[in-house]
Parts: sequence; structure tokens; C-alpha cells
Amino acid sequence: MTAVPSLTLNNAVQIPQLGFGTFQIPPEDTRETTLAALEAGYRHIDTAQMYGNEKEVGQAVRDSGLDRADVFVTSKLNNDAHGHDNALRAFDRTLEAVGLDYLDLFLIHWPLPAKGEFVETWKALEEVYRSGRAKAIGVSNFQPRHLRRLLEGSDVVPAVNQIEVHPYLTQDEVRAFGAEHQIATEAWSPIAQGKVLDDPTINRIAERVGKSPAQVTLRWHIQRGDIVFPKSVTRKRIEENFDLFDFELSEGDIGEISALNRNERTGFDPDRFNG
Ligand SMILES: NC(=O)c1ccc[n+]([C@@H]2O[C@H](COP(=O)([O-])OP(=O)(O)OC[C@H]3O[C@@H](n4cnc5c(N)ncnc54)[C@H](OP(=O)(O)O)[C@@H]3O)[C@@H](O)[C@H]2O)c1
Repeated sequence: MTAVPSLTLNNAVQIPQLGFGTFQIPPEDTRETTLAALEAGYRHIDTAQMYGNEKEVGQAVRDSGLDRADVFVTSKLNNDAHGHDNALRAFDRTLEAVGLDYLDLFLIHWPLPAKGEFVETWKALEEVYRSGRAKAIGVSNFQPRHLRRLLEGSDVVPAVNQIEVHPYLTQDEVRAFGAEHQIATEAWSPIAQGKVLDDPTINRIAERVGKSPAQVTLRWHIQRGDIVFPKSVTRKRIEENFDLFDFELSEGDIGEISALNRNERTGFDPDRFNG
């Protein structure tokens, strides 16, 4: 099994570039599915308070027999928990739910700009970070204007910004802002929940390199330097999505896939979504 490369975050924490997403995995299936991912070789699991499956993710990590230090666990603050004190209490609930001593990464899930509380909320995450109960902290769905406000009003630069990225939404501006400020980009819905898999360009490249459209799309993310965590409840796909390290796309392939961008979101627009 080829090792997944690790990236170094801005506070020197190492993160596996490929992980496993758990959005929309029902809690009753989450332990078994996460264990299947860990058996397939994944060492990075992405969950959130909103997904309702943190407890089962934690159970899988604890039951896997792996050393805690060998699995990277991320969760995210729910939209109803913005504000300093609410965020601190919500983090405590997460840590209790997962049954682990620390999280590797904890994120503000959405900026909720109309609420105007994300800077204050970030202060709470900074306290959690300083306590060592989250090895890194970051944000999700932040646009450059939100990041600028956050950077002005705080001490800790987010380690990551987790945003929707796939061939139909290449997010050039937000990724460039992140690169400039040492904020790593995590790409959510990396295969656009399946929508890019019928794309003729991706299928042509997939045929040429002898890989599936999902593998080509995930490899495109990896070669662009983003962190990805595809979700699947299907064992065969869980294994397929992990098998990305025995081939390379050419610069031409990367350019052709990037040119598919049509600024098409599958999820909410972070400027308009307010929880
Ligand atoms: N921060 C945020 O706001 C946010 C928002 C959305 C997602 N996320 C994170 O990002 C993760 C990934 O995004 P996502 O779950 O939205 O979408 P995704 O990973 O792009 O796609 C998942 C969908 O694609 C199917 N699929 C997976 N691998 C496949 C393959 N090899 N061939 C064909 N179909 C395949 C899955 O089906 P089956 O499961 O039926 O196999 C599922 O329907 C989430 O799980 C979550 O951790 C974060």
C-alpha cells in the first residue's frame, strides 16, 4: 500500500493529504463505515457536530486498534454555537462525544456573516488550541473578506480553510488567498457528490491513464496541493478512492480539468448562508 503524503500545516502539525469524509453517513452506519476506511488505510477522518455522527467516528477510532497519534480527526463547530461561551461549551461536547483526549483539527463550520460573531467565536477556538485539546484550528467556507476580518482581529492564523472545490468550482481566488497566508485549502465535495463523474474530459483522461473518473478527479486535487476527504459508504469505492498514488496526471491533464470550472456550487454560498 502506497503511503499517503502528509502536508505540514502553518503550526508544523502534519496532516494526511487524503482522508475520509463522513457527511450524510447515518450514525448507525458510521462506526462500521469508518472502520472500513481505517482498514483500507485512511488515517484522517472528517466529521462535524452537524453530521450527528461524531460519537460513532470516535468509537471507530478507539476500536480500530490504531495508535491515537496515527489517526487525524477533524470536527467542526455547529452554526448554533457561534459566540465565545457557546463555542467553548460546544467544543467540550464534541470532545466528550468522540471520547478522545484531543482533536487534531477543529473548524468554524460556516462564517454566518449576518450574525457577525465569527471573530468572537474564533477567540474561543484560540483558547481551545492553547489548551492543547485541538492540535490545530481552522475555518470552513470562509471567503477572502471573512478571512481578512478574522486575521485583523486575532492572533492565530487558521491552519486550514475547508471549502467546496471540484472541477466545476475551482475556487482560484480563495485558494490563492490561502496560499498567500499559509492557510491550507481543504476541498470538500471533491467529486461534487458524483456530478463530475460523467464529464467527457474526465472520462477521456481516465480511459487513457487506466483509472476511474473518481480517481482522476481526486488525483487532480492531490496534484494541486489541496487536502481531500471523499465520502463513500461503499467498500469498493472507499478502496478505489484511496488508490491514487500509483499514477500521475500530466500538467496538460491538470490544466484541462481546471478549465472545466463553471463556478457551480453543490452547496450553500457562504456569503448568503446564515444558518
Ligand atoms: N465544510 C463543509 O461545509 C462541508 C460540506 C460538505 C462536505 N464536507 C466534507 O467533505 C466530505 C466529502 O464531500 P461530500 O460527502 O459532500 O461529497 P463527495 O465526497 O464529493 O461525494 C460523495 C458521493 O459520491 C459517491 N461516491 C464516492 N466515491 C465514489 C466513486 N469512487 N465512484 C462513484 N461514486 C462515488 C458517494 O456515494 P456512496 O456513499 O453511496 O458510495 C456519495 O454519493 C464530506 O463527507 C464532509 O466530510 C464538508
